[in-house]
Amino acid sequence: MPNTPEHWAALSASAQRIDTISSDRLLKDNARNPGLRHSLAGCHFDFTRQRVDGQILNELQELAQRMKLSAKRDAMFSGDKINTSENRGVLHSALRDGAPKAPTQYRQAVAQTKQRLFNAVDDIRSGNWRGFTNKAIKDVVHIGIGGSHLGPELVVKALAHLPGSTSAPNIHFVANVDAKDINTALIGLNPETTLFIVVSKSFGTLETQINAATARSWFLERTCNPQAIGQHFIGVTTNLEAAAQFGLNEQNLFPLWDWVGGRFSLWSAVGLPIMLQIGTTAFDQLLAGAKQADEHFVNAPAEQNIPLLSALLATWNTTALNCDSLAVLSYDQRLALLPDFLQQLEMESNGKSVDLSGERIDYRTMQILWGGCGTNGQHAYHQLLHQGTSRFAADFIMVARDALERKEHHQWLLANGIAQGQAMTLGHQPTNPDEQHRHVTGQNPSTSIVLDELGPTQLGCLLAIYEHKVFCQGVLWNINSFDQWGVELGKNLALPIFDQLQGDDASNQDPATRHLINYFRVLNPS
Ligand code: F6P
Repeated sequence: MPNTPEHWAALSASAQRIDTISSDRLLKDNARNPGLRHSLAGCHFDFTRQRVDGQILNELQELAQRMKLSAKRDAMFSGDKINTSENRGVLHSALRDGAPKAPTQYRQAVAQTKQRLFNAVDDIRSGNWRGFTNKAIKDVVHIGIGGSHLGPELVVKALAHLPGSTSAPNIHFVANVDAKDINTALIGLNPETTLFIVVSKSFGTLETQINAATARSWFLERTCNPQAIGQHFIGVTTNLEAAAQFGLNEQNLFPLWDWVGGRFSLWSAVGLPIMLQIGTTAFDQLLAGAKQADEHFVNAPAEQNIPLLSALLATWNTTALNCDSLAVLSYDQRLALLPDFLQQLEMESNGKSVDLSGERIDYRTMQILWGGCGTNGQHAYHQLLHQGTSRFAADFIMVARDALERKEHHQWLLANGIAQGQAMTLGHQPTNPDEQHRHVTGQNPSTSIVLDELGPTQLGCLLAIYEHKVFCQGVLWNINSFDQWGVELGKNLALPIFDQLQGDDASNQDPATRHLINYFRVLNPS
């Protein structure tokens, strides 16, 4: 571990020691278990299936202290520029009023923007917002990618069952530059009753630029009315100038700020489709759930602090126990997009190999995060989880109260979620030598997260806990969780290739790239 060689040596020794203790024995350690179960805002976290004992928990807490985690947390909540490579503060907590020490002007800007957003939302949902032929809005097309897409789509789909959704327009999401995405969204839409929301923090992201331009052409081809853009396009961005140049009306632009990272932005104007789907009251409940997580993170003692414990255990699993991946297993279909959202949140934040002083690091940071929906996954990739050779960790997400009133389905869903965690923990050791093909090693660490119900408060709290977990892991690994320089190289490489696909000389490319460009050119003559 960075700057903590002695401590890391102790953790490595502990990792070897814990490998000699079965999960079965750990689970029976009653002195350990109560400290590994915590609840907040209708979310219950059970860490008892993790492979740690009291001594390891103490060592991990000492690591957090050595890395000055509390001081760094306080610096983040005060608006210090902890995103050093971009010289930016990190204050997504201020979007939900969870950072009372944030600069006053930030907090005021958030409150003013929220009021404007809520006015627009009420107008759209009530039918007051009229299109250019004086018709109410029926369909909303959200155009954005990455952090400007994944959070909003997750929450819109997760909370579509709320009663407030009855006044919502139909919400469609377009992210990919693949034309199939926007073509599918536009099928059957009437431009007179359609509103586009173009969301891009930078307003320079290729996919969003292309999709927004296609949406505008689609709209103009059908309306022949450039003046009507004002009633049918909304923008969300930090780059108000570029959005105005694109042709968006100033009064339809909602600001973002450089102290909000894209993947932490669903609480801001980026979450406009969420507000449209569930209404402003429920959106406030989502914010309130997240605020509870902020307050808990700042105030709860270390040994009860849920994001801190999540991060300590996840870091332990990755760096000490060498788990290759983290499987996020949603035992609730409404949370089917949670793994996609967490992939960006965790992998874009902590998939780093250079520390805060710019030194290359030689310990494992964020592992591959993937996942899917239970019980479907049990009939596909769970075979590898139970009998494969790869070590993994898992988060099980379950919802205690069902909204569907089909009790038998729900009980089977929960029974399977609980059973899969049990199998991954305890495994199965057949006594009959002829039955070794049934052997399941078990001993894989997992966390069981149970939401009392899937409401806005619980979901807000859950997502904010993951956000703070990401921050803590960045501190433990001594990396900057808030930049994403790794994505730039591929974006830049695509620029000349785009021109070469259309005929520019590709002879300077490496042989594999040149071959592919030529192959595509033969099949798509210009
Ligand atoms: O390419 C990565 C990225 O910058 C993400 O960090 C971000 O969420 C996404 O692209 C979209 O960026 P923007 O909101 O600026 O269009």
